[in-house]
Amino acid sequence: MAKLASIGVILTISCLLASTSSVDARKQNDLVVKEVTGFPDSFCRGKEKFINFRVFVQDLSVNHPNTTTYDVAQASITATSKTGFGKVRVIDDLVTAGPAANSKALGRLQGLLTRADLNTIGIAVNLNFYFSAGPFAGYTLSILGRNEIALAQRELTVAGGTGVFRFARGYAIQKTNSTITNVSVLDYNIYTTYCSTINEAVEM
Ligand SMILES: *[C@@H]1O[C@H](CO)[C@@H](O)[C@H](O)[C@H]1NC(C)=O
Ligand SMILES: *[C@@H]1O[C@H](CO)[C@@H](O)[C@H](O)[C@H]1NC(C)=O
Ligand SMILES: *[C@@H]1O[C@H](CO)[C@@H](O)[C@H](O)[C@H]1NC(C)=O
Repeated sequence: MAKLASIGVILTISCLLASTSSVDARKQNDLVVKEVTGFPDSFCRGKEKFINFRVFVQDLSVNHPNTTTYDVAQASITATSKTGFGKVRVIDDLVTAGPAANSKALGRLQGLLTRADLNTIGIAVNLNFYFSAGPFAGYTLSILGRNEIALAQRELTVAGGTGVFRFARGYAIQKTNSTITNVSVLDYNIYTTYCSTINEAVEM
């Protein structure tokens, strides 16, 4: 698996705020801010790349007998709102390499979906891809954004991640690949930076 670049030498910026009369108290209570040098050049040893990959998410609805999605809360307006405003759902959906549920399992998509638009169905998403197999195993990629599900394709924000996805920035195009009774298969076409020596040609 990938080795991360070392982040380089850490320098300490001396704290200029401490007054001579209360140095000891401040030593215990001050926020210590250090500059990390060498960013962005030494981070990733110049190997940060912009990549594209596509994964599928098996979204089993709340009605499915093996559901991976649960409603957790709603607002006083939710029941009468034409958009279900205020409903919050938590998901832990299977992520696969292909659209078929039995294609290679890559991890889970976990997080919250909040109905956050009073006029049209618009979902504020707060999601983490947690990869447990394939070239990104052990790493997470965080997705935020506004998902207006009536649109044929929805653009979401890649907001960061862990491991090879540290400092990740990019976007994801989400489409619905298929819908059958109580199951939607979602297609995430992801464009993101990553930092690794992993072989991008590895088949997912
Ligand atoms: C789909 O959901 C409905 C409503 O809860 C349920 O009666 C039905 O058994 C479910 N079917 C499948 C295949 O999940
Ligand atoms: C639910 O999970 C069980 C156990 O894995 C499986 O046998 C069953 O087919 C699943 N039901 C559906 C509707 O997928
Ligand atoms: C679903 O994904 C498969 C595999 O990439 C693709 O061939 C098919 O056209 C997609 N279907 C839709 C409706 O996007």
